[in-house]
Amino acid sequence: MSPPIPPIHKRIFLVAAGDLEGAGSVSTAVRRTLRELGVEPDVVKRAGIVCFEGEMNMVLFSQGGRIILIVREDRVELLFSDRGPGIANIDLARQPGYSTAPDWARELGFGSGLGIPNMEQNSDRFEIHSRVGEGTVIRSTILRGVHDDTGDRGGARA
Ligand SMILES: Nc1ncnc2c1ncn2[C@@H]1O[C@H](COP(=O)(O)OP(=O)(O)OP(=O)(O)O)[C@@H](O)[C@H]1O
Ligand SMILES: [Mg+2]
Repeated sequence: MSPPIPPIHKRIFLVAAGDLEGAGSVSTAVRRTLRELGVEPDVVKRAGIVCFEGEMNMVLFSQGGRIILIVREDRVELLFSDRGPGIANIDLARQPGYSTAPDWARELGFGSGLGIPNMEQNSDRFEIHSRVGEGTVIRSTILRGVHDDTGDRGGARA
């Protein structure tokens, strides 16, 4: 097996639980960083969507955590890890429409149960690992240089 291609960029972002004011700042920084590195616009767009949804879920459902951005010649990876309640039923959480968002979050427009499906749809590889009562780790890989002709990767929402 050939060794993995070394990262050309790696950055760690902290995400605070419940910080709705700051929510979205990591995905904004990730998009900017990728653009500055000359990453393909389609990949930047998909990474921005994946990052935003993962970041929002950490803000809403976890006790805080971090997002690691790794850029390689052939792929962009986003690693989300948090401390928190974890996800008891991962298969269910992957289904469109499943949400445990509280009423206050629904009043702010969250809780459609589309975040994880949107992350998966915009990733080439997508893994969720979680331990109830401990936390959740999500890895998204977006391949570069793979032109997408279908035009349906933009996600399930505007
Ligand atoms: N980091 C997390 N820690 C604990 N539970 C989570 C986490 N991320 C997601 N979940 C659980 O998975 C469910 C589905 O997440 P998903 O992002 O698809 O929907 P949502 O956040 O509820 O709604 P939307 O993303 O559409 O605003 C959540 O309602 C929550 O129960
Ligand atoms: Mg969500």
